[in-house]
Amino acid sequence: MSAPLTAVVLAAGLGTRMRSPLAKVLHPLLGRPMVGWVVHALQALGADVIVVVNHQEEAVRKALPGVRFVRQPAPLGTGDALRAALPLLPESGPVLVTAGDTPLITAEALERLVHAHLAPATVASFIVHDPTGYGRIVRGSRNPRIVEQVECTPEEAEIREVNSGVYVFDAEYLRHALPSLESHAPKGEFYLTDLVREGATVVSGFDDSLFAGVNDRAALADARLVLRRRVNRAWALQGVDFADLDSAQVDVGVTLHPDASVGLGALLGGHSDVAGMVGPHAVVNDSTIMAGAILHASSIAVGAVMHPGSQAGPFARLRPGAVLEENAHVGNFVEVKNTVVRKGAKASHLAYLGDADVGEGANIGAGTITCNYDGFSKNRTVIGARSFIGSNTALVAPVTVGAGAIVGAGSTITADVPENAVALTRTPQKNLPNLAEKLRARYRARKASAAESKQ
Ligand code: UD1
Ligand code: CA
Repeated sequence: MSAPLTAVVLAAGLGTRMRSPLAKVLHPLLGRPMVGWVVHALQALGADVIVVVNHQEEAVRKALPGVRFVRQPAPLGTGDALRAALPLLPESGPVLVTAGDTPLITAEALERLVHAHLAPATVASFIVHDPTGYGRIVRGSRNPRIVEQVECTPEEAEIREVNSGVYVFDAEYLRHALPSLESHAPKGEFYLTDLVREGATVVSGFDDSLFAGVNDRAALADARLVLRRRVNRAWALQGVDFADLDSAQVDVGVTLHPDASVGLGALLGGHSDVAGMVGPHAVVNDSTIMAGAILHASSIAVGAVMHPGSQAGPFARLRPGAVLEENAHVGNFVEVKNTVVRKGAKASHLAYLGDADVGEGANIGAGTITCNYDGFSKNRTVIGARSFIGSNTALVAPVTVGAGAIVGAGSTITADVPENAVALTRTPQKNLPNLAEKLRARYRARKASAAESKQ
């Protein structure tokens, strides 16, 4: 293309059908606002992008770097929205116009439309099963027209070829045609669709998954499904293994590496970087999972780092600052926060490790809890290399267990344990011979007399 293409994105409406206080175009899809997908496709085409804003203008501006903005003073319809952008348009040349609520468009489809453009106006159409909500393409013997749903005759309402809301106009045509648009009752809106008249071209044959408009939450969920598959497929072609292209969700800020593996229904978000294995229904946010690490089924990692050979879960929770070094393992129902679990250390079941340093090769028994919070501040626990912490131990921080020490099961550790020492805090066990049968007889008699007095 010779002259740079100018593109206008209409994003000023609130979108009442979403039934949401959030402006429609800001609803997130895989970590990017809906309008961001449109802008992304346009920028991939090299277009100079102008976005028309009004509702939640500041938030829309913040969400879209690298574009220019123009304000539509009041949301008086799509025609009025494009009119607001007139002062920023070039003197001549093609102007690509899209709605901000068609997040599935691709640079390839837009390019096809631009190439097919014939002066003065070109619109992309597609065939839908259910045309509800779309403007219908009415192809009479004369020029094609677009008739909005509310103004359709019963026959026109049956038409399944619909307006995509994506157009190419000549800038000169917009300059003389936009100011003379007439408003439609009952809302007094100006329709952009009225520019598709004499001499306009309709380009058909686009896949319906490219231009679906999102007007309500059901369409938002449908769009998410399409984008999930599209994003996952692209990663799969880069060598990532997916159990299921439809159910796993990989947000746009995530980096995956060849041979990474993503389980059924896994959710990957934020700035995560995954080269290892993410099990089914696991949730990963802002975390790094290196090659050879495994986050097992239904586990959650947020702000965590898993080194090669480390494993977590199933049902583990890694919170911010959790670092599992090489070959460290944490098992089911283990929660790790702001804690380094050093090489080869293990906590296989039911533990809370918070604000701790777990030494190389240490073994943490089931039910071990770091008591890191005294109601006012967080305190650290240091667990020495190769130490053994017996099951159901409470480590009352701040406290240090020396390297090679053994802590007996059920201990409450309130003072430091020296290297290689054995620490035991349990009260000695008492066995009372044959008392069990006597106790049972006493309880039985008590229950019987209670039942008698009730009658
Ligand atoms: C519009 C088209 C319809 C087409 C459909 C495709 C018109 C009159 N109708 O209908 O033919 O089939 O898109 O999805 O154009 N907007 C503004 N300012 C406004 C009003 C809307 O910027 O005053 C923006 C919205 O934020 C939205 C876009 O324009 O991103 C489309 O508006 P919307 O109300 O969703 O139009 P539809 O009823 O879907
Ligand atoms: Ca729409």
